[in-house]
Amino acid sequence: MSLIWSYACSVGIASMDDQHAALMDALNEVLAAVAHGADQPTLTAYMTRLITLAEQHFASEERLLERFGFPGLDEHRIEHRAMLERLYEWHGKRPGAGYLTTWLENLRSWFHNHTEGVDREYGPWLRAHGVH
Ligand SMILES: [Fe+2]
Repeated sequence: MSLIWSYACSVGIASMDDQHAALMDALNEVLAAVAHGADQPTLTAYMTRLITLAEQHFASEERLLERFGFPGLDEHRIEHRAMLERLYEWHGKRPGAGYLTTWLENLRSWFHNHTEGVDREYGPWLRAHGVH
C-alpha cells in the first residue's frame, strides 16, 4: 500500500524531487501507522507532519513557478489548494477505520496523479530557464 519512488515520479528538478520524496515518506508513515492500528495521538502527529510538509512544499513549488513565469501556475495553485483542503479535513475529526482507508487511498492517488501529471509539465519549462 505504500508509495514507492520511481523515475516516473521525477519532475526533473532536483529540489522538487527531494521535496516530493520527503512528502512520499511522510504519507507512507501515515499509511503504516494506520495499517498498524496506531492510536489517535500518534496518527495526529504523523498527519500534522504530512500537512506541514505539504504546505511548505506547495509554497516552495509555487514560488519557483512564479519566479520563472510558468504559464500553468494558476491551475497548479488550484490543484494544490484542493489537496490542502482535503488534508485539512483531518482536523477536528476522529475518523473511523473505513473512512480513513478511503481518505488515504484518495490522497495516495492524488499524489501519484499530481506528481506524475501536472508536476511533470513544469520540468521542461524550468530546465529551459536554467533550473535543474
Ligand atoms: Fe505541484
